[in-house]
Amino acid sequence: MADAAALRSRNAAFWTGAAAGWIRHADRQDEIGRPLGAPAMDRLAARPAERILDVGCGCGGTTAELAAAVGETGAAVGVDITEAMVTAARQRFPTDRYPGIRFRAADIDTLDVVPGAPFDAAFSRMTLMLLADPVAGCTTIRRSLRPGGRLAATVFRDGSVNPWMFAPMLGAAPYLGSLPPLPVGDEPGPFSFADPARLARVLTVAGFTAVTITPCDVTMNAPDDADAVAEWLIEVGPAGAAYRAAPLTEQASARAGAVRLLDRFREPGAGYRLPAGLWLITAVAARTDKPSAVARPPAIHHRQPREDDNR
Ligand SMILES: C[S@@+](CC[C@H](N)C(=O)[O-])C[C@H]1O[C@@H](n2cnc3c(N)ncnc32)[C@H](O)[C@@H]1O
Repeated sequence: MADAAALRSRNAAFWTGAAAGWIRHADRQDEIGRPLGAPAMDRLAARPAERILDVGCGCGGTTAELAAAVGETGAAVGVDITEAMVTAARQRFPTDRYPGIRFRAADIDTLDVVPGAPFDAAFSRMTLMLLADPVAGCTTIRRSLRPGGRLAATVFRDGSVNPWMFAPMLGAAPYLGSLPPLPVGDEPGPFSFADPARLARVLTVAGFTAVTITPCDVTMNAPDDADAVAEWLIEVGPAGAAYRAAPLTEQASARAGAVRLLDRFREPGAGYRLPAGLWLITAVAARTDKPSAVARPPAIHHRQPREDDNR
């Protein structure tokens, strides 16, 4: 496994390269990708006047959702390592339409606290498993919360419950230049938190208590537009930068390759049904900086949450 500094610079370089694709598909990502964050958004239940942190906010869609929930008297602060995405987020969701919204470009792993702290709650969609140093990043999140502040986040489980994710990369790769290195061991990547025990350890060491980790199966519904769906999934995945650098003929072949492998997820005339297996994480910032003696042990669940779990 690469050392922390190498992972951090690899992470920053990857997201800088990926930014153009994420910006280009930001609306599609917000709409089709909404189920990936919805369980955590529901569980967080942001209230008017609260101050909420959105970690790895990308192009800002979830931060805007949080800003709408907390209203004019609250605050929603999106943090993302990728300057270009933060710029796009500011353009998409300006403060004259979203009064409490702010975006900051920063590496959550290396901040002491997020400017604007303390927050009442933190949200994160599909980012924690990508942090180069997840203990450091989650410690920043915990320090940025007021004691007792709550965290709700989603991450992917493993590849077997997210089969669609391999299709765009495997289909496109033969036509593209070199791709980023595949993660090994605990290196950041979509499935680095496949093991819930590791995830629980990271959150506990970072100073969270009342940790719950619950499987959640959702479906992303994409329109029946094979070329557009293939391009979106290639561009927001590991092959995105290589795809954009490729000549148009190679891009077309890459899309055709992805379309072929995505076909098993297509219902003709209805669209694509992309099943995603998530961990829904909830936790509370400990009231002391030395939580281990008082922390409640993490609860790793083996069934999906029910509607009445919130009551
Ligand atoms: C998979 S994307 C998810 C973006 C957004 N949450 C969404 O669901 O559309 C992961 C995001 O995390 C950001 N990211 C990765 N490492 C980060 C770090 N160390 N600090 C802050 N943001 C980071 C990336 O720039 C990227 O926008």
